[in-house]
Amino acid sequence: MGKRLVVVGVQWGDEGKGKMTDFLGQHANVVVRYQGGNNAGHTITFDGQKFALQSIPSGIFHSGVKNIMANGMVINPPAVLKELEALRGRGITDFQLFISDRAAVVMPYHLLLDGAYEAQKGDKKIGTTGKGIGPAYADKYSRIGIRMGDLLDADYFAERLGNALTVKNMELQMLGLSPLDFESLYQEYLSYAKALRPYICDTAALLHSEIVADSHILFEGAQGVMLCVDHGTYPFVTSSSPTAASVPLGTGIAPKHIKYALGICKAYTTRVGSGAFPTEIEDDTAHYIRERGHEYGTVTGRPRRIGWLDVVALKHACRISGINWLAIMLFDVLSEIKTLKICTAYELDGEIIDYVPSTFSACQRCRPIYIELPGWQEDITGIRTFQELPSQAKAYIHTIEKLTQIRIATISVGPDRTQTIIRRTVF
Ligand code: GDP
Ligand code: IMO
Ligand code: MG
Repeated sequence: MGKRLVVVGVQWGDEGKGKMTDFLGQHANVVVRYQGGNNAGHTITFDGQKFALQSIPSGIFHSGVKNIMANGMVINPPAVLKELEALRGRGITDFQLFISDRAAVVMPYHLLLDGAYEAQKGDKKIGTTGKGIGPAYADKYSRIGIRMGDLLDADYFAERLGNALTVKNMELQMLGLSPLDFESLYQEYLSYAKALRPYICDTAALLHSEIVADSHILFEGAQGVMLCVDHGTYPFVTSSSPTAASVPLGTGIAPKHIKYALGICKAYTTRVGSGAFPTEIEDDTAHYIRERGHEYGTVTGRPRRIGWLDVVALKHACRISGINWLAIMLFDVLSEIKTLKICTAYELDGEIIDYVPSTFSACQRCRPIYIELPGWQEDITGIRTFQELPSQAKAYIHTIEKLTQIRIATISVGPDRTQTIIRRTVF
């Protein structure tokens, strides 16, 4: 029976989805990115080498695997070409990549508008990655977007670009920016189309044939459920939905083909960009975790905000994505901390609550209620079985399982592919 598993970040992104997708990708026939764009930064480490992927799926290092960038993504053609060049430059040449003809294109005006909207917001800015993601999705839904397949038909592309540029140039000028020249943009994107043509196809049809062939398919989410445009900490979110519910729409297969979702969760919490973060800490422990976990953004290099594990947000994310199992990541980073805290509820205006409020204003007022657990002093990066973990580490894992009522299938104790403890095979 063909296995199908969705890999979903269940916090605010950077949970280690890249590591787990690459790890599980060893057993996959197909790996599919279903949303987001090059706002993602997925790090993969093996054989002493470290790679950071942005748009390209994390199955790319396994030569037999078909890697699909599906219709739910927003794709920046020069950025993809750069990524491909970087991979080839490091000897990764034996791969299979397919890009959906229905995926939206990120255009230069999207990047300019992303920056301009952020500047307009002043200190209320979202802290986007500046990759034009929000404006590209907005155009898709306004129906003035350009899709990857459009680039392959020069006349049709001219018409689509003409339509879009009329509106976009007005917007740019309103924001005090210079309008873009049709001809140079047109020629530039035709040249990208030429380079990417071999990869562009109907990926939904390809996926369908893989389902008929009973293939093992892994769906790789970007970002995390708390950054979901519907279910995250709006408006401090991204512009797509990283939830498992996004998979059918974002890939063109029926929901009935997807049964299982693996939630990727750090042993603590991080967030990049603005927005509420009830368990955020800014003390010596935060500093210790940031340095030990190298908690600096893969895409922007920004220091990530650090906090304790927030089980209120985690349960919210797991419920929405129908998470069957969790993978606890960066567990090694918690070594040598005397006392660990886990947030089990919030206090909001004098009331104890166990849900994530819908408004930023209420989320900002949430005060975390913690349980405390003793930490462990040992370095656990060399451990490969659950039994060998220090008793305090085992207790931390059991506590998360008890609080979430979800089995922890995998524990990651280092960035390398091999630094992985498997308690249950899920793919
Ligand atoms: P993603 O966006 O969810 O793929 O995560 P990122 O790659 O942005 O961030 C996760 C970071 O943690 C990367 O630098 C990984 O190499 C690293 N990492 C993943 N798992 C572990 C782990 O178990 N321990 C440690 N120390 N680092 C890890
Ligand atoms: P991966 O896949 C962490 C955050 C940005 C910002 C907000 C909106 O590596 O986990 P955007 O550029 O999407 O409009 O920014 O979302 N963000 C991420 N944070 N990991 C990511 O991806 C992110 N992608 C976007 O920092 O707060
Ligand atoms: Mg990342």
